[in-house]
Amino acid sequence: MIELRNRVLLAPMSGITDLPFRRIAHRLGAGLVVAEMVASKMLAGAHKQTLKRVMGAPEITPYVIQISGRCPHETGEAARVAADLGADMIDINMGCPARKVTKGLAGSALMKEPDLALSIIDSVVGAVNLPVSLKMRLGWDEHLLNAADIAIRAEQAGVQMLTVHGRTRNQFYKGQADWLAISDVVKAVRVPVIANGDIIDFSALETCLAQSTASGVMIGRGAQGRPWIVGEFGARLATGASPAAPTLAVKQAIIAEHYEDMLSFYGVELGLRNARKHLGWYIDDLFKRRSDALTWRARLCREEQPVNVIKALNEMFASIEGDRELAA
Ligand SMILES: Cc1cc2nc3c(=O)[nH]c(=O)nc-3n(C[C@H](O)[C@H](O)[C@H](O)COP(=O)(O)O)c2cc1C
Repeated sequence: MIELRNRVLLAPMSGITDLPFRRIAHRLGAGLVVAEMVASKMLAGAHKQTLKRVMGAPEITPYVIQISGRCPHETGEAARVAADLGADMIDINMGCPARKVTKGLAGSALMKEPDLALSIIDSVVGAVNLPVSLKMRLGWDEHLLNAADIAIRAEQAGVQMLTVHGRTRNQFYKGQADWLAISDVVKAVRVPVIANGDIIDFSALETCLAQSTASGVMIGRGAQGRPWIVGEFGARLATGASPAAPTLAVKQAIIAEHYEDMLSFYGVELGLRNARKHLGWYIDDLFKRRSDALTWRARLCREEQPVNVIKALNEMFASIEGDRELAA
């Protein structure tokens, strides 16, 4: 099994955990980063856009690629392509709730078809000489809470780590993740189980770990606009001491670094557009007053030239430094 840097992992998020975001979260100490989900068929076919979405970098180890699919042959092929790309671990997606994925019987729909799910796991485990992990939900709905059953079978099939998002598919992202329910999965298997869902601060993380008894946690939306929290919480969990939260100057440098990386990864035109959602989340995190956040969002997300975006960012940070309440 792969040694993790710490017990706080960055969750895969489609359209978000691209290479620049994984790079920054990894540099800031995340226990593990996972590429966004790609369809096995597309990865097996080595489609250009798909290869870009899973792209790794030498400094990001372990390199984890997540695949989805409903055809055991295709998922096995995709795993082989991932191995050829240099992946250190393959994660199988059985948690995605999106209709366009589940109607093709992939993602969380596989929880309704445990035998097919197992064929997919067998195919992936058999295709590569790499550790395989599985990410799932508690079940399809409140009548089918079968995460522990699938976990037992997955473990027998050779899966080495499990992540459980404490919701059913039918909950999508509504309500509150049920961390206690994840403990049934932890009890059922010997492999490490990672708990996921709604961890937005360290106190939520501690409660989640206490209730789930999981080996670690995975943070998704809580890291949007705050990629540093994954590493920060990981270090805090490992040492018991809380590392200093990044200063304003450090945050400014992180945002600039992430922005530049997006421009070079996607090219200026696409990079500028793709970076806007991240800038929006960074701004939301920086400002206490919603009206200030909206003003700066409007300004930064309208700029058409990267140099003007950087200029506006500098002005924004100067204005925060001048605001004693925010700078405190
Ligand atoms: C925009 C978005 C995209 C996501 N994409 C993926 C994905 O590609 N693969 C996956 O396993 N989960 C995906 N998820 C689910 C997250 O990994 C995570 O399980 C979920 O957001 C709950 O954790 P959180 O409350 O910390 O965000 C996605 C979630 C969001 C919000």
